[in-house]
Amino acid sequence: MDKPKVVLGVSGGIAAYKACELLRRLTESGHDVRVVPTGSALHFVGAATWSALSGHPVRTEVWSDVHEVPHVRIGQEADLVVVAPATADLLARAAHGLADDLLTNTLLTARCPVVFAPAMHTEMWEHPATRENVATLRRRGAVVIEPAVGRLTGVDTGKGRLPDPAEIFETCRRVLARGVAAPDLAGRHVVVSAGGTREPLDPVRFLGNRSSGKQGYALARTAAARGARVTLIAANTGLPDPAGVDVVRVGTAVQLREAVLKAVPEADAVVMAAAVADFRPAAYAAGKIKKKDGQEPEPIVLVRNPDILAEISADRAREGQVVVGFAAETDDVLANGRAKLQRKGCDLLVVNEVGERRTFGSEENEAVVLGADGSETPVPHGPKEALAETVWDLVASRLA
Ligand code: C5P
Repeated sequence: MDKPKVVLGVSGGIAAYKACELLRRLTESGHDVRVVPTGSALHFVGAATWSALSGHPVRTEVWSDVHEVPHVRIGQEADLVVVAPATADLLARAAHGLADDLLTNTLLTARCPVVFAPAMHTEMWEHPATRENVATLRRRGAVVIEPAVGRLTGVDTGKGRLPDPAEIFETCRRVLARGVAAPDLAGRHVVVSAGGTREPLDPVRFLGNRSSGKQGYALARTAAARGARVTLIAANTGLPDPAGVDVVRVGTAVQLREAVLKAVPEADAVVMAAAVADFRPAAYAAGKIKKKDGQEPEPIVLVRNPDILAEISADRAREGQVVVGFAAETDDVLANGRAKLQRKGCDLLVVNEVGERRTFGSEENEAVVLGADGSETPVPHGPKEALAETVWDLVASRLA
């Protein structure tokens, strides 16, 4: 079988050096990659590097090898175009359909999925011109992943860093696997909660649970690869931020509720994959609780936490918003799942059976997705990503 053909566009930002790692990951995983840098990208990383790493000649202009009509052919033949880093200037030229170098020509002739991984200073990213260009590209079906927050060139920090190349690679892999030029969640905003809450007893102890956050992260990654703007509300996860996703970190159920309520007014869909503690300690000891000689410990008194899923299902922040819950059950899985779906009032409930064999933290999952419309979608044992894709299929069909 022919290797999938990927065009790696590189525009002129300092993060161009990180695209070398993305290129390596793509070639090592069996992709045939043509690198198309802009002229200014070559100020940061030279043509020799791109050529050696990709095994192909590298050009920036339409004027070399004109007999091969590269300005049309490279785009036409591509299975995926990824631009990393995408500068404010490149996004502007792409949004306006300019074709003044080989990369912008390629973007106009490509009929495959296109991924932009922007990187620039926060001010440039937040400028209304860039916001409008990004919105235009997304509306046309491109996947524009959100920049990461962190250290920028020089001493300043903020939003605008190129996401980790390993994460951009994951996005590319997923977009390629779907193989459709128009991502079905493009222009949608989705909110996903992940991980498990921790309810503090004192400054060093908490009541927690074993949720790793992997299922929620798989949901966030797959939604981003399907074109959605994603807000990931992460409770105590030790996982790397998925590329192109806005991550809000929380600790307790009450903080999770605040973050969810803040995000839902703009959301087309909300997926509550987090394991939220049903109870929290009634009291928080400001100092560490000490053992006292000859005395039994004080019992821990618990109070109920708010049920966030039930609350956002009952009070929809937007008309047509799709709300999805998760339920882990140990027995009578389907009957309990149906009852829970009714009680929570959500549109879809992903029910899994938990037990000794099926532990939290694993890479795989198996579930049945119950719909408020009576539907039942079984998802066989497989990667958490596969379950995530099924959830988004069901969400997308309800949004449409
Ligand atoms: O009732 P149970 O905890 O089994 O429900 C699980 C579902 O409800 C999950 O989607 C979880 O995120 C959500 N939940 C919630 N608020 C709580 C408890 C659970 O939103 N306090």
